[in-house]
Amino acid sequence: MPTVKLMPQSVEVVLPDGSPLTELEFELYGQESIPFGCKAGVCGACVIEILNGIDYLGNKSREEKDFLETLGYPGDSFRLACQCHVGGAVTIQVVS
Ligand code: FES
Repeated sequence: MPTVKLMPQSVEVVLPDGSPLTELEFELYGQESIPFGCKAGVCGACVIEILNGIDYLGNKSREEKDFLETLGYPGDSFRLACQCHVGGAVTIQVVS
């Protein structure tokens, strides 16, 4: 099963294959997590940097890429967490 390690807290969560990263909100209830807002890729509240496992969060759509660039986060290592589904071991940190 895929694992998500959230930095800098170094908290690790195991999720079923293909789970959306929004599941972290439930898995880490009451703990510091990703600050989700709209969960639809339009508010920019959930920007993360992928520190490891970039290939295990699915493909970035053109809309997501353009929005991240507008927010000042160009490059492959930045994602909107609400648009990611996990398929392997990843390490991420919140940047927004
Ligand atoms: S929660 Fe709004 S863009 Fe991800």
